[in-house]
Amino acid sequence: MRAATWQGVRDVRIEEVPDPTIEEDTDAIIKVTSSGLCGSDLHLYEVMAPFMTPGDILGHEPMGIVEAVGPAVTTLAVGDRVVVPFQIACGSCFMCADGLTTQCETTQVREQGMGAALFGYTKLYGAVAGAQAEYLRVPQAQFGPIKLPDGPADDRFLFLSDVLPTAWQAVEYAAVPEGGTVVVLGLGPIGEMSTRVAQHRGYRVIAVELVADRIERARAHGVEVLDWDATDDLVATIHDLTDGRGPDAVIDAVGMEAHGSPVAETLHKATGLLPRALGEKMMETAGIDHLAALHAAIDIVRRGGTISLIGVYGGAADPMPMLTLFDKQVQLRMGQANVKQWADDILPLLTDDDPLGVDSFASHHIGLDELPDAYATFQKKANGAFKYVVNP
Ligand SMILES: NC(=O)c1ccc[n+]([C@@H]2O[C@H](COP(=O)([O-])OP(=O)(O)OC[C@H]3O[C@@H](n4cnc5c(N)ncnc54)[C@H](O)[C@@H]3O)[C@@H](O)[C@H]2O)c1
Ligand SMILES: [Zn+2]
Ligand SMILES: [Zn+2]
Repeated sequence: MRAATWQGVRDVRIEEVPDPTIEEDTDAIIKVTSSGLCGSDLHLYEVMAPFMTPGDILGHEPMGIVEAVGPAVTTLAVGDRVVVPFQIACGSCFMCADGLTTQCETTQVREQGMGAALFGYTKLYGAVAGAQAEYLRVPQAQFGPIKLPDGPADDRFLFLSDVLPTAWQAVEYAAVPEGGTVVVLGLGPIGEMSTRVAQHRGYRVIAVELVADRIERARAHGVEVLDWDATDDLVATIHDLTDGRGPDAVIDAVGMEAHGSPVAETLHKATGLLPRALGEKMMETAGIDHLAALHAAIDIVRRGGTISLIGVYGGAADPMPMLTLFDKQVQLRMGQANVKQWADDILPLLTDDDPLGVDSFASHHIGLDELPDAYATFQKKANGAFKYVVNP
């Protein structure tokens, strides 16, 4: 089959690879009809390269048609239409029974000290072949795949694999009181869907973003959006909009590749003035700016409020403003989205009325061959690149 493979930093190629086969009794094989490209894939594209192996198949947002099932999979039949959660979970361990499928004790990647295995997500998460491919082997298929009705086009259900449950969990974890206000940092697919879920629940939603067409998309559905670059004092501006107090909750949908830390910007300028080799060395050791969005969230949220981290963070050495967190009595909740925990709440909203706007959510539909270019464009957030859906 043909699949999108990681070959090096900013180097994704479509290659011929062996077709997946049933390896365990609990496996299924699906023929992929749609597969998303995600902000999480961008971390692999560049900053998480040390955890990648050339040839790794990327992608974790698939749906398709069941092609084969192992003998222990009695819940699926060949020909079923399914969407597949990005995490691999057994459904019956202590963690799964508690709804924490991203902590599944059957698939935890213990040798790396990590939670449940994920499709297409480095050796940290089990080195499982990913879903930007013509076919996908689905382990633990007795539990994971969600059966779908025929009829609506794939986009109606595709985002159940990641974007919808992730946004849903972001809003759940934000614990906004009835009629309260939530600030969403970042209006990529995850942040924007979080604004839609929060609006659906009747909260006031304020968002922060810097990419013009993303700002416009959110304004078009009634979100108050502040431009990160054009707002001099973001914290003061948001506090002015929220009775001087700050919002009840902040959702950080940016993660570790945030734009805007003064430290990072100064470094960029400084390294530009240095001889090339020295400048590169300095960028390597100083790394990218990690915590701009999280620090903003801590300053923005009201005292006693909640920060819901849904953007992915890595690393260990970054200093955290513990005094401010403690003194403001901030609640901090985070983690990978537990897809099946929220699927039953979301499915009734995936109707012809389309209250969350999933049918028109994707900005681009592409073939596999166009995917390497799509990674590059999506990373630059150029040409209106917002949500790519691959139809292999
Ligand atoms: N927890 C989970 O289960 C889960 C699932 C999917 C994605 N994610 C993570 O969510 C994050 C967002 O994913 P996405 O697909 O929407 O990606 P994305 O990269 O398209 O979105 C991030 C957005 O944040 C904006 N941004 C950058 N710096 C900012 C700043 N300082 N202030 C405000 N906005 C800023 C960017 O312009 C961009 O629009 C990523 O970190 C991704 O890894 C987490
Ligand atoms: Zn994703
Ligand atoms: Zn489990």
